[in-house]
Amino acid sequence: MKKLTIGSIQKRKGALPLVMLTAYDALFARIFSPSADILLVGDSLNMSFGGNADTLSATMDQMIYHTQAVCKGAPETFIITDMPFGTYTDNATALSNAIRVYRETSADAVKIEGGADKAPLVHHLTSNGIAVCGHIGLLPQAVRAEGGYKVKGRNEHEALSLIADAQAIQQAGAFILVIEGVIAEVATRVAQSVSIPVIGIGAGNGVDGQVLVFSDMLGLYEPFVPKFVKQYMNGSGLVKEALEQYVNEVQTRSFPDENHIY
Ligand code: KIV
Repeated sequence: MKKLTIGSIQKRKGALPLVMLTAYDALFARIFSPSADILLVGDSLNMSFGGNADTLSATMDQMIYHTQAVCKGAPETFIITDMPFGTYTDNATALSNAIRVYRETSADAVKIEGGADKAPLVHHLTSNGIAVCGHIGLLPQAVRAEGGYKVKGRNEHEALSLIADAQAIQQAGAFILVIEGVIAEVATRVAQSVSIPVIGIGAGNGVDGQVLVFSDMLGLYEPFVPKFVKQYMNGSGLVKEALEQYVNEVQTRSFPDENHIY
């Protein structure tokens, strides 16, 4: 599949839904690359890969390391890197960290969490040549400040505020938007209120595409399965089954057999 550009991604608005998936390393990026339109090096890697309870302790250095690996595994795929918590506290900090992403990796864009309050910062990045993906609704980086993961769009006031967020981020120059943990009908209204593609996660199917954390999608992440996650395979079960067989064959000396020796 030919690598998408910002232009071809934007043409998918209201057309064939975009398929976005997280990737954290070259191994999985190579597997996902032929099927995914966009790979997101999400700071969720701090949980599934790093074993932490939330995304907040992810650092710029970690994101760069993982993005370099994903770029090597999927050179033909459009790649977005998450800006982790604390790396875009003001315009200058955000720009120098986003410039690091462009200088040290071949990622195509960065993702910033936040609504209308982040629009001036998004504008600062886009007007300095950085392609930005917005992220509104449930913001994982706000989990400690908000005391948990809070679904948004539960009343008309929140719905209007999400629409205002999306429009402000679009106006600031973002080329695409992730909307997370939002009542499905509200997410549909948000998608209809802007001309950039809106990619949902826990936001129903009235948007322009979907993103899932790959370890959730493959059933590999055991600690917690959010309601919106569909596990397309029982990854941890399959790995354990294979491992049990390996253990058994090593212990019974049936591996290696004559096909696996020199
Ligand atoms: O970090 C991540 O994987 C994300 C997705 C949940 C959209 O931001």
